Amino acid sequence: MRPGTSFSFTAVLSVASLLLSQLAPVHAVTVTNYANDFIDPQYVLSKDFSNITVEAQDTIISWAQTMAAQGPWSVMNKTYAPPTGNKHDYMSWAPYWWPDCSNVGNTTELTPEEIWVTCPYVSRDGLFNPDGRTINDIGEFEDMANAILYNALAWAINGSSVYSANVARFVNTWFLAADTAMTTNLAYAQMERGPNGQNGTHTGILDLKCMAKVVSGVLILREGKAAEWTSDIDTALNSWTTEYISWLTTAKIALEEKAATNNHGTFYYNQLAALQILVGDNAGAKKTLEEYFTTQYTWQIAANGDQPLETARTRPYHYRAYNLAAMITNAKLGAYIGYDVWNLTSKNGKTIKDALDYAITLPAGKETASELWPNVVAVGAVYGDADGAYAKWMLDNAGNTYPADAQFLWNQPFSDSGLVKADATTTSSGSSSTSGVRQEDGARSIGASWNVLAMAVGAAMLAVFA
Ligand SMILES: *[C@@H]1O[C@H](CO)[C@@H](O)[C@H](O)[C@H]1NC(C)=O
Ligand SMILES: *[C@@H]1O[C@H](CO)[C@@H](O)[C@H](O)[C@H]1NC(C)=O
Ligand SMILES: *[C@@H]1O[C@H](CO)[C@@H](O)[C@H](O)[C@H]1NC(C)=O
Ligand SMILES: *[C@@H]1O[C@H](CO)[C@@H](O)[C@H](O)[C@H]1NC(C)=O
Ligand SMILES: *[C@@H]1O[C@H](CO)[C@@H](O)[C@H](O)[C@H]1NC(C)=O
Ligand SMILES: *[C@@H]1O[C@H](CO)[C@@H](O)[C@H](O)[C@H]1NC(C)=O
Repeated sequence: MRPGTSFSFTAVLSVASLLLSQLAPVHAVTVTNYANDFIDPQYVLSKDFSNITVEAQDTIISWAQTMAAQGPWSVMNKTYAPPTGNKHDYMSWAPYWWPDCSNVGNTTELTPEEIWVTCPYVSRDGLFNPDGRTINDIGEFEDMANAILYNALAWAINGSSVYSANVARFVNTWFLAADTAMTTNLAYAQMERGPNGQNGTHTGILDLKCMAKVVSGVLILREGKAAEWTSDIDTALNSWTTEYISWLTTAKIALEEKAATNNHGTFYYNQLAALQILVGDNAGAKKTLEEYFTTQYTWQIAANGDQPLETARTRPYHYRAYNLAAMITNAKLGAYIGYDVWNLTSKNGKTIKDALDYAITLPAGKETASELWPNVVAVGAVYGDADGAYAKWMLDNAGNTYPADAQFLWNQPFSDSGLVKADATTTSSGSSSTSGVRQEDGARSIGASWNVLAMAVGAAMLAVFA
């Protein structure tokens, strides 16, 4: 890929104060935007949850409510149209590109809109151009994907139709309703701007990687036969998706992204395979995932477990965690359709577990340590953690609130390290470890941990797009 076109930034997804009837008094709830994930709907619908996940369940309910209060989302909300003049077309701006107006021969000051099309744009790698968020389809999509995921999970956990109705409403607004729907392409994603930058670029395909979350949420409602998930909406979303898959598998920039050797390629496969599963094309999804595991995957993990294409980037801790999340998502998508890839190896003989085991030996430094946490729990849940090393790593690195993290619900079995409750403010006599309150009697406090949780995931209140 072209240097400087791929990027990474962090943004606060959502920090909202809201009064939850069951959680008085007011707590600031910070919603974590995991890099990506896919959740087996049958696991969720079985509701056969270990009782160590009760706090994660509470977190999910709270995040569902926080996100739902902010929706719905739509491409129509942007205040500037793409070159087609049609706001229904998804649009975003490449984040590291800046205008150079020194040679445009202007006689009066240019308006922002004039600058966007008149001045040549140049890449300043790693330097985020803040006006990129003037157009926020990407942020709206990520919020929408999280809202769908957490509300579908909340419906499964709680059973209230409020949550399933939220999912249906958010899907309808973003994808289907004639006045608000997105057209079925990313032709204007990550435009570089300027006279030669009025088309999308391949890195923009990454903007919609969290389709895997959307699909997870929809499958929960569909397979759980939620009344609010009607056959009309199901059919309409399938039609939308079939058209979009056609674009995603034929457009020049989409195919360039598919060929990206690093995390961009990995995430492309997340998106395509999830959508193929959504429309019932499991054979196509299997072929898609096989392609990933016989191409990119084979060179992404070195003999020592490092991911050299990510380590070479500006923020190696982030990029290793990021690509791991994408690899794990591909593996979970595979598992859902009966394609077991967890033991597949790179050409250096290494598995996803080896990549994780290497990543957790390295210090985060100035980067965000929490990005690795869901990967550790996911790997421990799949490959096992007989000696408790991963659970200990979580306790040491994530702290004693980690069982209250939402993903702790669906990355099971994974030990809660015997924590009584995820609340560092509570002391326990006799049995405390240095970093956690240990469980002695099975008592468990529910929903008491929000302030601590907010601190623990504070560093992780990330919307990471890289
Ligand atoms: C975004 O668009 C939807 C659909 O039109 C609308 O309901 C929502 O209020 C808009 N959000 C904002 C922040 O304008
Ligand atoms: C355009 O020209 C004006 C007047 O010469 C100058 O002040 C300004 O910096 C130039 N650039 C832009 C982007 O307006
Ligand atoms: C679902 O949540 C509502 C509102 O908090 C609560 O009143 C209800 O008891 C919950 N239902 C279940 C089955 O947990
Ligand atoms: C933008 O992309 C479309 C579709 O690939 C192409 O037809 C068009 O020529 C491109 N425009 C520019 C200005 O490059
Ligand atoms: C990997 O292969 C071994 C040996 O066949 C098997 O016991 C194990 O369950 C596999 N692990 C995963 C995660 O599939
Ligand atoms: C969870 O369930 C196990 C097995 O039934 C029980 O021993 C334990 O006390 C329970 N723990 C909590 C916190 O309810």
